[in-house]
Amino acid sequence: MLKDKTIIVGVSGGIAAYKVADLVSRLRKQEARIHVIMTEAAKQFITPITMSTLSGNPVLDDMFSNQGIVNHIDLALKADAMVVAPATANIIGKMAHGIADDFLSTTVLAMRCPIILAPAMNDRMYLNSVVQENLALLQRRGFVIVQPESGALACGTEGPGRLAPVEQILKVLWTSLQRQQDLKGKKVLVTAGGTREPLDPVRFLGNRSSGKMGFAVAKVAAERGAEVVLVHANTHLPLPPQVRAVPVTTAEEMYHAVIKEFSDCDVVVKAAAVADFRPKMHAEKLKKQGNQLTITLEPTVDILAQLGRKKKKQVLVGFAAETNDLLANARDKIEKKNLDLIVANDVSRPDIGFASDDNQVTFLYPDGRHEPLGKMTKEAVAQEILDRVVHILNNKLSTENEE
Ligand code: CTP
Repeated sequence: MLKDKTIIVGVSGGIAAYKVADLVSRLRKQEARIHVIMTEAAKQFITPITMSTLSGNPVLDDMFSNQGIVNHIDLALKADAMVVAPATANIIGKMAHGIADDFLSTTVLAMRCPIILAPAMNDRMYLNSVVQENLALLQRRGFVIVQPESGALACGTEGPGRLAPVEQILKVLWTSLQRQQDLKGKKVLVTAGGTREPLDPVRFLGNRSSGKMGFAVAKVAAERGAEVVLVHANTHLPLPPQVRAVPVTTAEEMYHAVIKEFSDCDVVVKAAAVADFRPKMHAEKLKKQGNQLTITLEPTVDILAQLGRKKKKQVLVGFAAETNDLLANARDKIEKKNLDLIVANDVSRPDIGFASDDNQVTFLYPDGRHEPLGKMTKEAVAQEILDRVVHILNNKLSTENEE
């Protein structure tokens, strides 16, 4: 997997720098091309000779020598991935706020490949809200954070701040590389937001979906190389780059937009909250009359169930937003709508619900398996969903080849 990949390893100044020698050595054994960048502080903890010997390339540390000005852009252009380990509070702060004052921080700004951060520092520093907010900011921008472990720290205290095991950093690096362009050649249709069903010219029945989860799936799918169509209803979010957007308002409009795109799709992810019923539309504004108003509702089309009936090669992913009996209700929907995967979440929890940046979901599969995930950003959930989708696509392909 790592053979011939160009991996940039950024080392900042912490006692855990010595462990990164092992990381570099293991990358070399896997035949990656490695370039190590060290900050001045890092050189207080481990020598550049160790790193250049293990990586097979000179250590980069000086912006203003021959290796500097042009080289940081060259490096950024050829890098397949970057690992910053240990990531100190200082480099985390610089990366979060765009400060570029040495070789490492300048190179990070030029990078477009996945960047993996493995923080390591004293527990009081790590838990400081400045560091936590900087990490959250970086995570929202797509940096991958490998959380430090809890345990005995070099300064004699105990708590979170120990560099994650090298094994784990390697695993995260491997996953990030695998995700690059693994949806190339695939058409992915995503729905997002919440439909609105008009009652009269000024009122509608709607729901609280913000569209964040669907937008995250669309963004990540495009980054992974897919052709993405995003059918979105009543959202106020910036459109992700490289995505074809189709705005709709009602369930009926969403149905027509989805059906139009469906036949040549490989994957459909239906994250939208679609109204199940709509009122009869009044041509004129409803007037206050008496102290009661009865609205009669009629069912809308269940878009996903229709796709389930029509599907041929497509991988269908549904969402189950539940407030009770999460697993039983979600399982029911897998069968009824003929899905390959359902993403179930508890929308009664305010910390992970509609407008939140985070989510905590359980994946359920048609064979009865279920897979609970921890709380993470919606973008991280999107990556996990697409990992499962790629796996299902590959399985379908190998079954077809066997037949
Ligand atoms: N869905 C759809 N069309 C509808 C209703 C739902 O395509 N008219 C899709 C949603 O986009 C979601 C999945 O079906 O992926 C489940 O939606 P949810 O609202 O949780 O379930 P419902 O089937 O509407 O059932 P209920 O409201 O009774 O929970």
